[in-house]
Amino acid sequence: MYSILDDAAQRARAYLSNVGSRPVSPRQEAIAALADLDTSLPITPTEPRKTLEILDRFVSPATMAMAGPRFFGFVIGGSLPTALAANWLAGAWDQNATLYEPTPGVAALEQVALRWMVDLFDLPSGTGGAFVTGATVANFTALAAARNGVLAKAGWNVEADGLFGAPPITVIAGEEAHPTVLKSLGMLGLGRGRITRVPVDSQGRMNPKALSAIKGPTIVLLQAGNVNTGSFDPFADIVDRARDAGAWVHVDGAFGLWAKAAPALRHLTEGLERADSWATDAHKWLNVPYDCGLAFVREPQTLQRAMGITAEYLPTETAHRNPSDFTPELSRRARGVEVWAALHSLGREGLAELFERNCRQARRFAEGLRAAGHEVLNDVVLNQVLVSFGDPQHTRDVIARIQEDGTCWCGGTVWQGRTAMRISVSSWATSDSDVERSLDAMIRVAAE
Ligand SMILES: Cc1ncc(COP(=O)(O)O)c(C=O)c1O
Repeated sequence: MYSILDDAAQRARAYLSNVGSRPVSPRQEAIAALADLDTSLPITPTEPRKTLEILDRFVSPATMAMAGPRFFGFVIGGSLPTALAANWLAGAWDQNATLYEPTPGVAALEQVALRWMVDLFDLPSGTGGAFVTGATVANFTALAAARNGVLAKAGWNVEADGLFGAPPITVIAGEEAHPTVLKSLGMLGLGRGRITRVPVDSQGRMNPKALSAIKGPTIVLLQAGNVNTGSFDPFADIVDRARDAGAWVHVDGAFGLWAKAAPALRHLTEGLERADSWATDAHKWLNVPYDCGLAFVREPQTLQRAMGITAEYLPTETAHRNPSDFTPELSRRARGVEVWAALHSLGREGLAELFERNCRQARRFAEGLRAAGHEVLNDVVLNQVLVSFGDPQHTRDVIARIQEDGTCWCGGTVWQGRTAMRISVSSWATSDSDVERSLDAMIRVAAE
């Protein structure tokens, strides 16, 4: 009955063995063939192998090679083989990782992985956390704790009484806060449009001098790793000042928080550890399978007040940590398994090597493109490179041709009015020769 799993493993191995030699973007023929999947629902059961064969035949060629070594779009890591294997095992366990008592194995694993990361990121001891789907929901989760915390200090129980009649909360964010943070604010009833925006510099870093005086319930949103430039807000100049004035400081570190784990990058994060909450992704730079993000909160009881529930039918009473006391979801998959496996298999040295290697590779892209006469728009402090190939239309054309060429894949953006190509080096699988091969392709295509 379970031999279908061997079939899946074989197909997955064949896919991954080939993913570095095929064009990175799916070819038009593969996309056109997807139409054949648009059938009516079968009346009778299909043989399992046949179902898998159809998936592999139609969908594998129509995938973007995000798992491969030369995908540099968005901020997308691959999956470390150990993390993927752990994810398969967790799939077989099929645990509903909600409460400790019914699922002690995965609940314990989550707790260990959280403790390791609190340590790795140098966060205050006692910091609690939650495994969620990604940085968007991690920001949402941490900001729910922030909302609870600042209103509790003002004598208001937002979980019980909602926001109608509550003391107003001032939200302060840089002009370059990621749009998903604004979405989280909207979902929390704090509004996407009533934020006090602080001007930023040419790299997207908040200008600390432009931060207004803080009065009353206030949340300050900072960023570790701008999605375009990779820059970090000047935490040391802001965090203590804001906290001393009574504000809750939250850091969106979707990928930048991992810089804490690399000695050569840690200086970028100085002061970030003194904030109240942090969001990051594991599916980006830690290279675990989708979907996996993390929220950390210095005072976990604020998060528990925002997220915890009890019900007669649920065994919530325990001396242990119930994951769902800290997450928006009740039923959920055990995301901690692959995070634990990635951290365990790489260790501190492997993690530092991964992040420092990707940053060195980003600098090599910048150097190679500059040497070929192209303009690099950002200071390459992390793993992000912005390059202009000339006027906006020409840059967009070059990006389209690079995508079509298939050697590598990069997306476009507009950074402070300049159209640019984004190169995000985030994968464990990217070797130095992948970088050279991709650079050659970019320079060749741009010259055509
Ligand atoms: C700084 C920042 N915050 C939040 C997000 C959203 O992350 P996710 O897509 O995992 O929800 C991103 C995505 O790139 C990001 O770069």
